[in-house]
Amino acid sequence: MNLTLKIWRQKDANDKGKIVDYQISNVSPDMSFLEMLDVLNSEIITKGEEPVAFDHDCREGICGACSLYINGEAHGPDRLVTTCQLHMRKFKDGDTIFIEPFRAKAFPVIKDLVVDRGAFDRIQHAGGFVSVNTSGNTQDANAIPIEKVNADKAFDAATCIGCGACVASCKNSSAMLFVSAKVSQFALLPQGQVEATDRVLNMVNQMDEEGFGNCTNTGACEVECPKGISLENIARMNREFLTASLKG
Ligand code: SF4
Ligand code: FES
Repeated sequence: MNLTLKIWRQKDANDKGKIVDYQISNVSPDMSFLEMLDVLNSEIITKGEEPVAFDHDCREGICGACSLYINGEAHGPDRLVTTCQLHMRKFKDGDTIFIEPFRAKAFPVIKDLVVDRGAFDRIQHAGGFVSVNTSGNTQDANAIPIEKVNADKAFDAATCIGCGACVASCKNSSAMLFVSAKVSQFALLPQGQVEATDRVLNMVNQMDEEGFGNCTNTGACEVECPKGISLENIARMNREFLTASLKG
């Protein structure tokens, strides 16, 4: 396939940035989207120019680093995949592809297609954990019975990889789907109950401090989420938040 790529180039956080056109030929439909960018970068480097900076790590849908906005969709046109799992067979010979960073006030661009998603880390630090007594008296987790339906829902919530596609897809740049997944994975388990009140209050407070917008129930986040995180988690987080606020 021969393609025209229109890629966001931005030297650093202070640069205004602009779309730059690139032509790429002989792209195999079996390449992943990131492999296609690797080929483009080796051609750019051969010409002595600065390669396109983009984020990636695992390249198998686990780490959540490969956050690209492709033709106006987070992680591109496929469903339930990350950018590293997107294949070039989803495009046609002669296509023009727009490639931009995830855009949100709370995700400032560092360079080209790389954004700073440290806001998610700070939300996690605010409460996305359980404290475990490691003094030698730790209870075996398998000794605590958990209803199968709750165990499954907690596992589903825990599959959130923190990619930020929910934020990038939302017209309000809301992080509710991400935060609700992180709250839910513990709210559904007995191990999460001890710190439940502080967890939801602190995580929601940090989310607001980071400058994410509010949820207005448009559901774009659920559609674009590569892990199929359900809006049901947002409803659960709202219930947890209300209960915690009444206690507090
Ligand atoms: S909820 Fe989905 S889209 Fe949002 S960070 Fe988690 S995996 Fe990514
Ligand atoms: S590089 Fe890790 S999810 Fe894509």
